[in-house]
Amino acid sequence: MPRKYNILIVDDEPSVVFLLKEELTECEQYSVATALDGAEAINLLHAQPYDVVLLDVKMPRVGGIEVLKFIREYHPTTQVIILTNVADVKTAIETMKLGAYDFVSKPYTREELLATVERAVELHRLTIDNELMKYELSRQGSAHELIGESEAIQSVVRTAKKIAQSDAIVHIQGPSGTGKELVAHLIHSSSTRKNHPFVIVNCASIPDALLESELFGHEKGAFTNAIVMKQGLVEVANGGTLFLDEVGDISPMIQPKLLRFLESGEFRRVGGTNAMKVDVRILSATNKDLQKEVEAGRFREDLLYRLNVVTIRISPLKERKEDIPRLVEHFLQKKSKAKKPKHISAEAMQLLSHYDWPGNVRELEHVIEGAILLSHDDEIRVKDLPLIIDGKTEGKRPEESHNKEEALSLEEIEKRHIEFSLQKNNFNRLKTSEVLGITPKTLYLKIKKYRIVVPQH
Ligand SMILES: Nc1ncnc2c1ncn2[C@@H]1O[C@H](COP(=O)(O)OP(=O)(O)OP(=O)(O)O)[C@@H](O)[C@H]1O
Ligand SMILES: [Mg+2]
Repeated sequence: MPRKYNILIVDDEPSVVFLLKEELTECEQYSVATALDGAEAINLLHAQPYDVVLLDVKMPRVGGIEVLKFIREYHPTTQVIILTNVADVKTAIETMKLGAYDFVSKPYTREELLATVERAVELHRLTIDNELMKYELSRQGSAHELIGESEAIQSVVRTAKKIAQSDAIVHIQGPSGTGKELVAHLIHSSSTRKNHPFVIVNCASIPDALLESELFGHEKGAFTNAIVMKQGLVEVANGGTLFLDEVGDISPMIQPKLLRFLESGEFRRVGGTNAMKVDVRILSATNKDLQKEVEAGRFREDLLYRLNVVTIRISPLKERKEDIPRLVEHFLQKKSKAKKPKHISAEAMQLLSHYDWPGNVRELEHVIEGAILLSHDDEIRVKDLPLIIDGKTEGKRPEESHNKEEALSLEEIEKRHIEFSLQKNNFNRLKTSEVLGITPKTLYLKIKKYRIVVPQH
């Protein structure tokens, strides 16, 4: 069963709370908590984020307006639905100005209630997506297929799918470009959390000083630049999966905090006093040997044991060369977009199958992408492949390359590369010259020299 959305109902009228709760729990996608006044609600909200809050306005002690303000400041992605009496539309409108999403007036119909909650859940998801987009973290589409018929890959797929059903922490190990991120994706999308966020944190690319506040958020005024409160990625990932990429690069300063989070699911925003709890499944990956990092004193042993409850190892492409033909076909299709995919000559395929691929599948993908652009008709031949692929193979280069007409001169390669860069930059000469690292004037001269056709705008 898919993981549920968290709803909080806040009303001082026990019968209203009871009825709302009954109606919402009938829908199996909701998990419902309740509070009978504003103070209780704020206590609950201190301890964990909710996706949607149904909020009464007039309550003793702490009123709905205060709770709303607190939510807007403390949980900016949480959506609030105000519960009002029909007569009190004025207050309802005021709360919308303060950031409430919508209101439901009592007495409400069941349909009306469910439709409003459903829309609020959807909006919450969109807000989270938006949050992830800021980090360029959202990955969409169906391009997450893990290709490979080798026993090595098949066993990775089997383990990933099996382990996806549990909440076990999984560590993915393998050289660069072998598909670690893809495996993490497969685990998330095969799990009950698949409708919730999949958040990737690249621990190597975020400076040490920032990583803690990226992961766990910070309160307003926590440090010099903390002008506004910021949610941590662990909150954004609530209900879903957090993928700690390059986890071997986490600094010793943050390792204990991560360890604590893994042990208890609890964390504190930087500068915050409350421990908050979220429900996040952790995956991690690295191409380092973490055991060696432990021996070198750079990685805590207890953290390593927490992270690799289950380890999935992906072998380098050179150890599973039987996967190459299928991968080539896959990338030919993927990179051709709407056009009919190009095919590949037997000789070219043979070269690809013999090369050692130090950059693994990522390198193969780039080579195919380049070859599609270089080949002039619908077949990819040896001449369209980078020379290094040929140079590294032990066997003889096939006949094809000795064909004089097929061999490319350096000038021809330069011409094609310029053509390719121009197309990629929409024939913007300034941009293209920057990309190529030459002056616009040199580019202009080369366009003339090679008689490259540039469409007039
Ligand atoms: N088995 C596979 N089937 C299809 N595509 C693959 C496969 N393995 C890798 N790829 C593709 O190769 C590229 C690199 O994969 P990915 O980013 O998952 O590698 P990685 O192991 O995380 O590398 P790094 O350690 O450098 O981060 C991606 O575009 C991915 O889609
Ligand atoms: Mg990666």
